[in-house]
Amino acid sequence: MKSNNNNNLEKFEFTKKNLEEVDKIFAKYPDEQKASAVMPLLDLAMRQIGGWITESAMRYISTLINVPYIRVYEVASFYSMFNLKPIGKNFIQICTTTSCWLRGSDDILKLCKKHLNVENNQTTKDGLFTLKEVECLGACVNAPMIQINDNYYEELNKDSLLNILNKLREGKEVSIGLQTKKRKGAEPIDSVNN
Ligand code: FES
Repeated sequence: MKSNNNNNLEKFEFTKKNLEEVDKIFAKYPDEQKASAVMPLLDLAMRQIGGWITESAMRYISTLINVPYIRVYEVASFYSMFNLKPIGKNFIQICTTTSCWLRGSDDILKLCKKHLNVENNQTTKDGLFTLKEVECLGACVNAPMIQINDNYYEELNKDSLLNILNKLREGKEVSIGLQTKKRKGAEPIDSVNN
């Protein structure tokens, strides 16, 4: 994940451009419900910092939405998409919930760990990949799937997974979405043959 800002991590504040984004986010909520904006604000902070959220950023957000720091920390530490420590360039989230599990996510996870030589929640020595096992990412119909940064890679098998990891390592483009190309989107497999 790319950082777009050289923030002093000890003293976070949104950039001028992101403060404009904050205004747009707040405009979606009633004035007395600013606290509801905590997740988009955490996401914005995470993108500004470069893929993770500092305590300073959480404290800053708590001031913006006028809630105690602990309320922001609770959200940031509960949801797997928020990282509380630095991550690699490619943040891999592997879904291992029911549909993905039934379709082989254990093998995907195992291969990923072996190929990258990391365990869950670890970052490779070269800083290129961070691996995290997560709950359902909402693309069950194309299980098994993983998310890398903002993109989904679906209907994976061992070959397509290795292809994705190798291309990312080499800095090459990888096609996102379905990896088998046997069907479009999430249409039934039968419709391919009709
Ligand atoms: S079970 Fe994996 S995306 Fe839903």
